[in-house]
Amino acid sequence: MARRIVITSGKGGVGKTTCSYLLGLNLAKLDARVVILDVDIGLNNLDVVAGIDTKINYDLIDAIQNRCRVRQALVQSSVCSRLYFLPCVNSYSVGRVTSEALSAILRELDISFDYIIIDCPAGIGFEFHRAVFCANEAIIVTTPHMIALRDAGKVANLLSGYTLGQIGLVINRVRNDFVSRKMMISPEEIANSLKLTLLGTIRESNEITALSCSAGELFKLNDSAMGDFCALAKTIHYNMASKPNRENFLDIKIKRG
Ligand SMILES: Nc1ncnc2c1ncn2[C@@H]1O[C@H](COP(=O)(O)OP(=O)(O)O)[C@@H](O)[C@H]1O
Ligand SMILES: [Mg+2]
Repeated sequence: MARRIVITSGKGGVGKTTCSYLLGLNLAKLDARVVILDVDIGLNNLDVVAGIDTKINYDLIDAIQNRCRVRQALVQSSVCSRLYFLPCVNSYSVGRVTSEALSAILRELDISFDYIIIDCPAGIGFEFHRAVFCANEAIIVTTPHMIALRDAGKVANLLSGYTLGQIGLVINRVRNDFVSRKMMISPEEIANSLKLTLLGTIRESNEITALSCSAGELFKLNDSAMGDFCALAKTIHYNMASKPNRENFLDIKIKRG
């Protein structure tokens, strides 16, 4: 069975889709067979980020509604042959897709892939629960900003109600210069406060900003942030994450729940 990892956050715009794509790409570069699912059914955009929007004949909704087979809706990456996408381009009413229907799609993918990365929508409503329902691991993506941290804490609390093998944390858009000048909370402090396993940090990247201005260019990323995604993929693939340091718990008032 594949490792099914939901990438979630609560708050929108913190980098879930960017992380889904670049984590998936780096896992595939480690020889894993990876598929990334766009489960942000209402406001999907994985196809644009991955640059596959012109290659789509069928999407996730077509597969769910039996207009095609699941494999017909898969799109292979032109960057790495072991990376596939199950995009969503039709904006259906989000409530029309049930958790069970989505789970049935994942069961078909289980046999062909080592990783199923589930790009979750923002929010903590039905769509969030539908995405988490299908997963067996979760990654909470947050930025170091207080408004994102509060939502990450709430999501961590909700996830603890599920039977998940691991709930990991990725802190995106980190400015190490700010951290060393104590203008930004350090990733370790954030992980300890949220009582989550820190899987990796991704630095703020001007190159990501620039590449994101054109569709499908992110695979060209060649700065230290790509190194961060590569390290994150290795930590996940080889299970190298260390548990949160509860003894050094620092009260920075990030409440879970
Ligand atoms: N490390 C980073 N450095 C700079 N910009 C980033 C970084 N991560 C994400 N972004 C930008 O943030 C914006 C939101 O990212 P996205 O992945 O769409 O977030 P979400 O899926 O959580 O809504 C995008 O424009 C993306 O290019
Ligand atoms: Mg997104």
